Amino acid sequence: MALNAALLKESFEAILPTSDRLASVFYDTLFRRYPALQPLFEQTGLEAQKRKLIRALGLIVLNTERPIALHAYLGGLGQIHQSYGVEPVDYPAVRECLLAALTEVSDTWGIEVEKAWTEALDHVIDLMLAGAHRPVLGWRAPMATHHPAGERLVRGDGA
Ligand code: HEM
Repeated sequence: MALNAALLKESFEAILPTSDRLASVFYDTLFRRYPALQPLFEQTGLEAQKRKLIRALGLIVLNTERPIALHAYLGGLGQIHQSYGVEPVDYPAVRECLLAALTEVSDTWGIEVEKAWTEALDHVIDLMLAGAHRPVLGWRAPMATHHPAGERLVRGDGA
């Protein structure tokens, strides 16, 4: 799929100085609209997680024209999310709340920018879900596949 790389980059760069606000609005919206998802984050250091999310969005925006790298990165991210207990049905909520947060913080929001982000997030989610279904090879936390659906791994690394 041809994503609008130039528009995404321009839009993300304009948002970057207020990226803290983007991340805060995103998690506030997610937990308000979908409180059932909050327990997934109960061991999460939310400030660090906000930075990780922004970094991931930046990486995605920078790599829209490097499909192989994007595929590998997002496939891995999808596998990790499966280990957190994230289910495929959870993705539309994140998509919706990320778009809501982008709309709220972006000064340059418009039909074209919205289309560019919507297509990009759809593509991101496709690649994450494709990765989530791949067998976990060479990764040290394979217990994920033996856990009851929805149960989150407790990680010992304090992250
Ligand atoms: C657009 C799709 C998504 C992106 C780009 C994304 C991005 C990220 C990133 C970069 C991390 C940090 C991973 C690491 O520590 O290496 C993360 C962690 C996490 N994400 Fe997502 N995510 C997405 C979808 C979701 C969905 C649908 C859920 C379900 C509610 C979710 C819940 C979580 C949780 C629970 C963590 C773990 C936080 C922790 O370390 O405790 N994410 N996400």
